Amino acid sequence: MSALLEVNDLVVEYGRGRHAFRALHGVSLDIAPGECLGLVGESGSGKSTLGKAILGLAPVSGGRIRFDGREIAGLGRSARRALADDIQVVFQDPYGSLNPAMTIGDILAEPLLTTGIGAAEAAARVRAMLDRVRLPSTAMERYPSEFSGGQRQRIAIARALVRGPRLIVCDEPVSALDLTTQATILDLFIELQRDTGVSYLFVSHDLGVVRRVCHRVAVMYRGELVEVGEGEQVTRSPQHPYSERLRLASPVADPIAQRERRSRWLALRGAPDAAVR
Ligand SMILES: Nc1ncnc2c1ncn2[C@@H]1O[C@H](COP(=O)(O)OP(=O)(O)OP(=O)(O)O)[C@@H](O)[C@H]1O
Ligand SMILES: [Mg+2]
Repeated sequence: MSALLEVNDLVVEYGRGRHAFRALHGVSLDIAPGECLGLVGESGSGKSTLGKAILGLAPVSGGRIRFDGREIAGLGRSARRALADDIQVVFQDPYGSLNPAMTIGDILAEPLLTTGIGAAEAAARVRAMLDRVRLPSTAMERYPSEFSGGQRQRIAIARALVRGPRLIVCDEPVSALDLTTQATILDLFIELQRDTGVSYLFVSHDLGVVRRVCHRVAVMYRGELVEVGEGEQVTRSPQHPYSERLRLASPVADPIAQRERRSRWLALRGAPDAAVR
């Protein structure tokens, strides 16, 4: 099957001239229809930058981003707005991304009304969407502050899905949630993908999280992808020393295994960069 999203040799630079900072150094990856591609890597490695570049929110200075065969890097504002039908986003902090002054009904209807759908039709779709993310239709009259973190993330997911996109960039969507809530939201992501065929770019620093939801996993290190492979393989027996270091950095419950893991992690951390790259 041909890829839904193809990123080729992507370069992103923040700032200009002497102060320019290259956050992505020629990144290439693709995502198939209905696929979840995980993106892991330490803080500052460029995960969010890649997500932003796909959303048209980061300064692309080289390479290509093609969606459904069409170049989308450097699109003008109106073409970008039209692309919101197809590409959506869920962020880590739903409270920051949901307007506190709007009811849930209005938050979810807004992306539909801007496409010219009538109010009654929009309300019906919003109700169906709430049902899909397991929130009662009474949520429509309430405000974001009246919901828990997990419920707010369900609302953010509903908003991302309401226009029937083909790709959702999920940037640490469960990182702010407790473990039990994380598990239920991850199951919701999996179920929605199965039902709708949407693709995800799923950014996380947690290998356990990506193992659970992702088909393949890409590992980013200082603005470059160092490994891309099957989720199980990359998260359990990675090929690249840097991916192994990430694996060893995630804690395990057994204290003896954890002590051993930590000393191996420290040994790898001490390795010079040349050996890690
Ligand atoms: N708007 C910006 N202007 C300048 N530099 C930026 C900007 N956004 C990000 N950067 C830099 O680009 C690099 C990659 O940042 P990015 O946010 O993509 O990392 P990340 O992998 O998402 O990290 P985290 O796990 O902490 O979210 C970092 O060095 C960061 O400081
Ligand atoms: Mg980030």
